[in-house]
Amino acid sequence: MIPVHVAIIMDGNGRWAKRRSLPRAFGHKEGVKVVKKIVKVADSLGIKILTLYAFSTENWKRPHSEIKFLFSLIKQFIKKELEELNNSGVKLRILGDLSKFPKNIIKEIEYACCITSKNIGLELNIALNYGARQELIHAFEEMYSQGIKKITEKMVSSFLYTAGQRDPDLVIRTSGEFRISNFLLWQIAYSEIYITDKLWPDFTENDLKQAVVTFQKRKRRFGGI
Ligand code: FPP
Repeated sequence: MIPVHVAIIMDGNGRWAKRRSLPRAFGHKEGVKVVKKIVKVADSLGIKILTLYAFSTENWKRPHSEIKFLFSLIKQFIKKELEELNNSGVKLRILGDLSKFPKNIIKEIEYACCITSKNIGLELNIALNYGARQELIHAFEEMYSQGIKKITEKMVSSFLYTAGQRDPDLVIRTSGEFRISNFLLWQIAYSEIYITDKLWPDFTENDLKQAVVTFQKRKRRFGGI
């Protein structure tokens, strides 16, 4: 079975650049090229939901110049790719709190989400200013403010940024780190995890296929036997 929802922690852009004695920005730029490729491949493999961790709530600790550069890459990606994404039926969703982002980027993102909202192809989630703990607090606050007393798993899920979407079947992390880094903590309770040493800018179509093949060999028991 092809995993329905694949979530990726795209790590290693900085190291990729460092190994080539280049500024970190080059790694991020190369990383965007891989994003474009992987979105297409995921769609062609039959993956229905692809979640990409692009900017975490912890990434604000980075130098201002790097944050600004990442923002400009994200804006450019959305602006430049919107037409093609829309033509291929991609539905864009942002996971995270966009309110701290520059107004011009928010406008661009909201426009892209609105234009693609009726599409029925690949659901592309981009996690921006995303942190799973912040997402859970946000959900609990919402439930509290709506006076919800009976809290169930379904209820919590319905207040997350991923509301209505199936939980990830497969989480991929590049660059060989064995960490989850505050990514989708609630949603990945039963996800299979695949870690590759490849740095994100080196991640290829074949690497995604390899991750899917490995997933297919796993026995998912969801706590049963
Ligand atoms: C991790 O590498 C990567 C990020 C924090 C940013 C990911 C962003 C992109 C690939 C580009 C923009 C994304 C989209 C969806 C258009 P790192 O900088 O932590 O690398 P390091 O651990 O080697 O330093």
